[in-house]
Amino acid sequence: MNILVTYFSQTGNTETVAKAICDECATVGTADLKRLKDITPNDMARYDFIFVGSPLHAGRLAAPMQEYLRQLRSTSGQKMAGFITHFAAAYPEQSMEGFAEPIKTACKKNGIEFRGCFDCQGALSERLHGVVQKKLNATDEAWAEMLSQMTGHPNAEDKDRARAFARKMMDANRPREDRPSTTT
Ligand SMILES: Cc1cc2nc3c(=O)[nH]c(=O)nc-3n(C[C@H](O)[C@H](O)[C@H](O)COP(=O)(O)O)c2cc1C
Repeated sequence: MNILVTYFSQTGNTETVAKAICDECATVGTADLKRLKDITPNDMARYDFIFVGSPLHAGRLAAPMQEYLRQLRSTSGQKMAGFITHFAAAYPEQSMEGFAEPIKTACKKNGIEFRGCFDCQGALSERLHGVVQKKLNATDEAWAEMLSQMTGHPNAEDKDRARAFARKMMDANRPREDRPSTTT
């Protein structure tokens, strides 16, 4: 099986998750890790499964990812899953279901099977701390709490979760006899 893990990332959080997903996919098939800017919509024709990853920017997928999804053209029979990084809890009104909507829409339009979306806590770039604290009108105390929540993410646990997500997405594609036992 040919798998593509493609992502947009400015400060490395989404890239970290992409790498973890790609590592896991490599245990199942041939997995390519590519920045979004390095692929064209046509490139995807040779992949059976595509993972697309993006940070949240102003409550939406990053603009380059939205553009990619708008331009997506696919042959039938492919599968797709998403992954999103964010510093989320700072924006309580965020709905992860909603953020995956552009991915679902692109899948629907192109006859691609949408398999799911993984979301992951990321840390906010330090240069934005002041701006965002101000935007959120957060007290120093509230901001310190947000910082402690986001600092260090994505961490080892997040990467494990990303790998587990990839495994779950891939399991349906594995020959039954190769699947790990699920008996508890
Ligand atoms: C311009 C900009 C807007 C952002 N808007 C949001 C947002 O609306 N919600 C959120 O949770 N995080 C937001 N973030 C934080 C990023 O989504 C988060 O830091 C992400 O993990 C960055 O991924 P990257 O390192 O792959 O670029 C924003 C970051 C930037 C630079």
